[in-house]
Amino acid sequence: MSLICLVYVSLANQSMSDEHLKDMLKKARANNEKHDITGMLLFRDGFFMQALEGEEDLVVALFNKIAQDSRHRDVMLVYKKPIKERSFSQWTMGFNKIDNETLDCMDGFCDFMQKPTPEFFMERASEAEALLNEFKHQIFL
Ligand SMILES: Cc1cc2nc3c(=O)[nH]c(=O)nc-3n(C[C@H](O)[C@H](O)[C@H](O)COP(=O)(O)O)c2cc1C
Repeated sequence: MSLICLVYVSLANQSMSDEHLKDMLKKARANNEKHDITGMLLFRDGFFMQALEGEEDLVVALFNKIAQDSRHRDVMLVYKKPIKERSFSQWTMGFNKIDNETLDCMDGFCDFMQKPTPEFFMERASEAEALLNEFKHQIFL
């Protein structure tokens, strides 16, 4: 059993309404539960960041599938690393939509979440990890 955490960023291809997001999450959670995959998805203004945790083969297979999904593009791996324990063990896929109000109360993250781009996070794995951890306490949906 080798647990990993994989984080990627991407840009939405279509405008993602709350209905679209809810529908996508419902299917993702059912599938993740079957494969014992946990994690979190952040969404802001057409930008996605997702952490996937679980057995390496299963996480990599899921990431490859997600990367082909036509609902987003510019899918970029930020990091993939072995972990001893899960950070998002309670969530088959936690979700948070970061709006302007949320940004107001986030110390230190405002600047780079004003206009997030995949390129920005590519070289900033530790910022990506910190951002995901910040949202662990504010998961909804
Ligand atoms: C941003 C984003 C995140 C996604 N996250 C997941 C996920 O965590 N789990 C999952 O099963 N599918 C996720 N999907 C959907 C997959 O790309 C794919 O549509 C889904 O696994 C169904 O595949 P299937 O039709 O081969 O069963 C995500 C899609 C996008 C665009």
